[in-house]
Amino acid sequence: MMNRMKIGTALVTALFLAVALAACKKQSGDNASNDSGTGIGPVSSVQIAAGIDEGMAKKGADLFEAKCSACHKWEEKVVGPALQGVTTRRKPEWIMNMILNPVEMTQKDPTAQKLLEEHLTQMTFQNVTQEEARMILEHFRKKDGAK
Ligand code: HEC
Repeated sequence: MMNRMKIGTALVTALFLAVALAACKKQSGDNASNDSGTGIGPVSSVQIAAGIDEGMAKKGADLFEAKCSACHKWEEKVVGPALQGVTTRRKPEWIMNMILNPVEMTQKDPTAQKLLEEHLTQMTFQNVTQEEARMILEHFRKKDGAK
């Protein structure tokens, strides 16, 4: 009788722990899908004007084609993640720091670390200047339908 009760208590405890763990896991997953941080790198703030700067977005699209498209598509994963919606799930500063400083980002920024765990390939710096990274960001904003 006593033993049965102990086993019962142990089972309830185990169940409780499993549920608590699952809840924790879900929460950290949600954080990864929506990053509110600015990341680690040279960019601490970006000025975003209303509307799209079409000239910048065009140059950004060309840069993306030349330097990024081997690993990224908009709507599906290639080597790196699909980039659709990236401007709504990350801050502009975070995106530019990821472009300019990908190795340190995947080492120290929790969201970038998770991406590396998922994609198992290290994104490398593609020799873009900060100005060029800003153009690529404008291209992403346009693709995401920013007004
Ligand atoms: C060698 C392949 C490769 C190249 C080239 C590359 N990336 Fe990446 N990128 C990745 C991988 C893989 C990740 C996920 C993080 C990691 O594993 O390093 C990533 C992550 C990203 C992210 C974060 C996406 C998200 O969901 O938050 C952005 C933004 C990004 N890359 C933009 C670019 C841009 C812009 C270029 C071109 C200047 C570029 N990448 C070039 C492989 C690449």
